[in-house]
Amino acid sequence: MPSGSFTITLVKSGHRLTVSTHETILQVLRNTGIDVPSSCEQGICGACETTVLAGEPDHQDLLMTPQEHAENKTMMICCSGALSDNLVLDL
Ligand code: FES
Repeated sequence: MPSGSFTITLVKSGHRLTVSTHETILQVLRNTGIDVPSSCEQGICGACETTVLAGEPDHQDLLMTPQEHAENKTMMICCSGALSDNLVLDL
């Protein structure tokens, strides 16, 4: 796996996908044919908010509070990445 990339495990669909350095989670899901809500794609609107079941997101949104970021319960998948090698998402 190239440095900076990570994997996502989708518990509902059973997919395990790689997100490379220059991709967003949202792009990878779309490329795989998984339809998820989105709108602004800039971390502002909250449409793409996704529950995180395990792993540590690298929050890049402008919407959540620092406390919400620290709790790591949800993330905006249009712009945020991962600090851990894998994220387990409720998708
Ligand atoms: S699509 Fe708006 S925050 Fe992700």
